[in-house]
Order: sequence, then C-alpha cells, then structure tokens
Amino acid sequence: MKFPHFFQIAKLRFNQTFFLKLIKLLGLVSLEDIAEHLNELRPKHGWFVREYAQKRYFFTEHNARKIQACRREIKGWYQKEWITYEERAVLLASLINSMDKVANTAGTYYAYLKTWHRKALINFKFEFIQPTLGKNSGSSFCEPAESLLSRRHFNIVYLDPPYNERSYPHYYHLPETIAQESTPCVHGMSGIHSNISSMSEFNKVKLAKQALIDVIDKARFDLLVFHYADNGIINNQDIVNILSNFQGLDEYYIDSKGYTTKEMPRDIKHHIYMVQNA
Ligand SMILES: C[S@@+](CC[C@H](N)C(=O)[O-])C[C@H]1O[C@@H](n2cnc3c(N)ncnc32)[C@H](O)[C@@H]1O
Repeated sequence: MKFPHFFQIAKLRFNQTFFLKLIKLLGLVSLEDIAEHLNELRPKHGWFVREYAQKRYFFTEHNARKIQACRREIKGWYQKEWITYEERAVLLASLINSMDKVANTAGTYYAYLKTWHRKALINFKFEFIQPTLGKNSGSSFCEPAESLLSRRHFNIVYLDPPYNERSYPHYYHLPETIAQESTPCVHGMSGIHSNISSMSEFNKVKLAKQALIDVIDKARFDLLVFHYADNGIINNQDIVNILSNFQGLDEYYIDSKGYTTKEMPRDIKHHIYMVQNA
C-alpha cells in the first residue's frame, strides 16, 4: 500500500532540505508556515466531503471541507512542480495522520461510529509528522516483501505480515485513497472503492503458510525477526518447522490488545521468533 510507504518517507527521509522551494515560492519563512498556510485555507466542497461527511459520517462536514481543501492544495503544488515526490509523500502522510485524529471511527476505516466520537468533534488541524532522528536517513520501498528481499542481502530482516483474514486494503481504504490522490467510485457503508487491491496471501487460510515459506526462502539475512500472533492463521508448530532450517531459534512474547469489534479488547499474545543464518 502507498500510504504506509508515505509514512515511512516522512519518518525516515524527511529532513531540513525538504520544502525549501515551496517555502520560497509561497513567500514563507519556515515549515510551520506551510502548516499554517494549509490550516488557513478556505474549506472546500467536493468528492471527499460528499462521500465521507454527507453520505457517511466518517468526519464532520466542517472537518471534511478542511481536509478537502488541503488535498486540493497539495495536488496543485505537485502539478506545478513546487514539491517533489517525497515532499508530496510527507504532506500526504501528515494529512492522513492529522485526519485520523478527527475521524469518527474506532481505529480502522472499515466503519464509522453511529454517534459522534469526542475526537471527531475536535477541529481538524494539519500537523507535520515528526521524522525519526537518526544519524543516517533510511529508505522506503513500496513493493511485495518477496521481491524486495530477493534483490539484496540485509543484516536484519523484520517481518510482521498480516496474521488474520482482515485485509489491510479494506480496513485502511480511506488513507490509501488519500495517498493515491484519487476520487474513486465508492460503495456500501464503509465507502470502499470498487477496485480495491486484492488480499495478501498472508490473509488467506489456504495460502498463508506457503506465502511465509516463499518469502523466507528468498530472503538473504544475518538475523531474521519474525513477528506473528499466537492465534494467527499459521500455527506455531508450522512456524517453528519453517524456521528450523536456520540457527539458534529464540522466542519472545509481547502482550497486546487484539483488534476486536466487541466492547472488550481481546488479549492476544504476540510472538517474536529470531533466527540467524550460518
Ligand atoms: C501487521 S501489518 C504490519 C504493519 C507495520 N509493521 C507497521 O508497523 O506499520 C502487515 C502489513 O503487511 C502488508 N503486506 C501484506 N502482504 C504483504 C506482502 N506480500 N509484501 C509486503 N507487505 C505485505 C500489509 O499491507 C500490512 O501493511
């Protein structure tokens, strides 16, 4: 999906050299001025407002109009070549992150809540994602793990594929649409678009185990960290068998609140497996 890729660009690549051209062209001084500029835009009507505030209550109409105005402004900047691909990625990831703080949802975009959640009534405010401070900048790739892993050797590979049948493109369709800058035909209560990407093999009971074998087969690494849930599609014994081709299996557990549609969170155990290559 494109939107997590954009989040990674914001976290790993965003630095002080970003947005210098835009700041100059808009006659601004700093990055904060860009956020202020976006927050002062006149709210706009459009596809996003119709689908996600008027027909479905994901956002209050006022917030949807503010988000729509940001969408249009960012798109215009990119069309005029005032921002680069990576700068657009930072802006869109920041827009999605800011929008999430006022979404009338229980976490994912699969459904909106029947009554307005407290956070949905807060006024939308665009805020930049803060990059992770590190000595070196990172890289972000947007492609199937199996193709990336087969291209080069990695010191550490951390894999946390989906562990149940809930498909990410369905649950996070709205952030993805924002990242794609599209205005698709959408349907149903959740407003999912018709050409949603297909489910990952990891989401399919019959294919998940083979998908893991294929990915691990192609990967070249010193250390593999594999993160999965104990009640996931692939059972623990199968995972241990798949990893038995490597050395020194170490296992750790992390307590976690599982996703649930019921009122009470479900406790699930997250399992970390670590193995090394000889
Ligand atoms: C449990 S989530 C991991 C989330 C991520 N570690 C994070 O913290 O944001 C699983 C992710 O794997 C992605 N995915 C599913 N199949 C994949 C594949 N074959 N290659 C790469 N990513 C895949 C899903 O879209 C989803 O974003």
